[in-house]
Amino acid sequence: MDPKNCYNFCAGPAVFPEEVLIKAQDDLLNYSQLGTSILSISHRSKEFLELANRAKKNLRELLNIPSDYEILFLHGGASWQAAMIPANFLLPGQTANYINTGHWSQKAIKEAEYFGKIKTIASGTDAAMNSNWPIDPTAAYCHFTPNETIDGIEFYDFPKDSPIPLMADMSSTILSREFDISGLDLIYAGAQKNMGPSGLSVVILKKKLLEKTNKNLPTMMSYQVHVDADSIYNTPATFSWYLMGEFLEWVKQQGGLAEMGRRSLEKSSLLYDFIDQSDFYENKMPVKIRSRMNIPFLLARPELDNLFLKEAEQTGLINLQGHRVTGGMRASLYNAMPLEGVKALINFMKEFERKNG
Ligand SMILES: Cc1ncc(COP(=O)(O)O)c(C=O)c1O
Repeated sequence: MDPKNCYNFCAGPAVFPEEVLIKAQDDLLNYSQLGTSILSISHRSKEFLELANRAKKNLRELLNIPSDYEILFLHGGASWQAAMIPANFLLPGQTANYINTGHWSQKAIKEAEYFGKIKTIASGTDAAMNSNWPIDPTAAYCHFTPNETIDGIEFYDFPKDSPIPLMADMSSTILSREFDISGLDLIYAGAQKNMGPSGLSVVILKKKLLEKTNKNLPTMMSYQVHVDADSIYNTPATFSWYLMGEFLEWVKQQGGLAEMGRRSLEKSSLLYDFIDQSDFYENKMPVKIRSRMNIPFLLARPELDNLFLKEAEQTGLINLQGHRVTGGMRASLYNAMPLEGVKALINFMKEFERKNG
């Protein structure tokens, strides 16, 4: 299948901007006229350090991250951070508060339970609709997931003036709109949705938080070690870091987060409006917490699911299958998905409904 005729709705690893892929093609053969591939330059070289620092600077600018936050680029994806957070901040005898809004919240809770006592203080769509959570002021921190990729939940109503550090898994929502990080103490995200390839994650944490970390950890699990080494304690995922840097440049050139926010609202509203006026497709999420990034939907006749997917694929609309846990369909509309992709999907859905409704 020719990618020129395809729109890829994968929930991650997600679609990349074509411009970035074309540049990467050149850089794979000869990076910066060095006579060698981007894959083969040392992580200690001037050229790599330049691109690494540029990526960091761009991320700081795009997210408007104040100077009292550190930015880390780490291996292991978002799942590794779900374990690193309790390893670093849930000390013996302490309890951590968790919000359970779905699949990824539950996975984070499972990891934290290896390290200490967890109290789930709010759950389900109610917890996402209203962030007036009963945070325990004696707990070590409160963790939440403001974007449940599988369930199609997204919320930006974060608690104000929390008495304890707030930490958020923003994997599916980071860089998709402007937001004020100053109320949060740590955020993390796998890069593979809105800003880069899989396997690399970004962690942004308040410097002050480091005073509270567990000092008795395996080296690679310690945030302090990665801060001290500027994320290059060992050989980092150099190519992933490079790709992320190029993706961030692209986001900047497109107009930054104001523009990403405008686009994501336009794309998602178009699809939700179409689904809502149809009796054939349904999205069950309350409007207030509907995700702009991941739009799950069900067909009125689930026996048609396979036919829908087959014909969608034949039309060049790929990776629309919902997560195995929820079934149905899911269209992920991350930063690199153009508006034309959403329009093509809606046209296909209209025609499918006309033939089968
Ligand atoms: C919200 C959220 N958190 C965590 C993860 C896990 O990310 P990774 O596969 O990078 O560990 C995902 C993956 O899709 C996700 O959507």
